[in-house]
Amino acid sequence: MTRPAAEPVVHIDDDRFKVTEWRFAPGAETGWHVHGHDYVIVPLTDGTLGLEEPGGTTRTAALTQGLPYSRREGVHHNVSNAGTAPLAFLEVETVADHTASRRRDTLIRFMAAWNARDVDALMACMAADCAFHASSGPDAEGRRFAGREAVRAAYTGMFDSFPEAAWTADSHHVMGDTGLSEWRFVGTDRAGKRVDVQGCDIFRFDGDLIALKDSYRKNRG
Ligand code: NI
Repeated sequence: MTRPAAEPVVHIDDDRFKVTEWRFAPGAETGWHVHGHDYVIVPLTDGTLGLEEPGGTTRTAALTQGLPYSRREGVHHNVSNAGTAPLAFLEVETVADHTASRRRDTLIRFMAAWNARDVDALMACMAADCAFHASSGPDAEGRRFAGREAVRAAYTGMFDSFPEAAWTADSHHVMGDTGLSEWRFVGTDRAGKRVDVQGCDIFRFDGDLIALKDSYRKNRG
């Protein structure tokens, strides 16, 4: 016999949390699923859950209205309402760790694109509305390039200025909307002058893409 499907109602879905209210008629089930995030369940009613787990295990668990519990990502099960009355709970998933992971992947791709001298790949990492603040220039921010065309021209200019360039010893970190890439730049410019310097970029993100690349580097004295 097919059981009815539990009804999900998504209340919040942003880059930090996903909050879903699950409503179960008696006998209703979620279907088999694997949790991709750590989560908290807040029961909105009392009730009895039926839990099917891999390996054929079946058990029940009591829900108490307002009494939350937490689980780690990776839980694999099919959840049903094993009671005779409707039940409901809120599922609060923490998705921020995954956002940070995707943003860090962007920084790794961005660094690879510099080493590949691939301007299209660089721009694929930049948000629709983006800016670049160079490590030197007349302004407190260095030199500011605003908008995709200006940023693309600045990146192209960097490759023109340095026929040989490598970014090495890189490491990448993401904290909320801010990213940090550390690197060592070794290059030779058109005049044959060798540059070997450590520096970093501070990034601001728009979604998973870079809205601002703000560059800093050591000044050899
Ligand atoms: Ni579940």
